[in-house]
Amino acid sequence: MGTLYAVDRDGKKYQLAGRDRASLMEILKQGGLALEALCGGSCMCATCHVYVDPEWLDLLLPPTEAETGTLREEAEGIQANSRLGCQIQWHDGLDGIRLRVAPEN
Ligand code: FES
Repeated sequence: MGTLYAVDRDGKKYQLAGRDRASLMEILKQGGLALEALCGGSCMCATCHVYVDPEWLDLLLPPTEAETGTLREEAEGIQANSRLGCQIQWHDGLDGIRLRVAPEN
């Protein structure tokens, strides 16, 4: 289990329980955050774009070429800490991770 701390586009803070084998996108959506996730987690739409707190970036697996390409082609407001929430799977090592939902495209 563990806890994910998130901030939505309106600045509202959430404290959500992590779930094994769920993506961060799924945890955020089920936790009530407005995240479109139009492609359903297929790495196609970038509507699950999040900014991961920089101190957590090195604890994540690096983005695949597909994730990097979708961010580059579909997302706006890309930052060094931009990731696609659907491409990060929850595991206990992420307990305490903090992120913010990126502005809508
Ligand atoms: S849900 Fe579409 S890229 Fe993540």
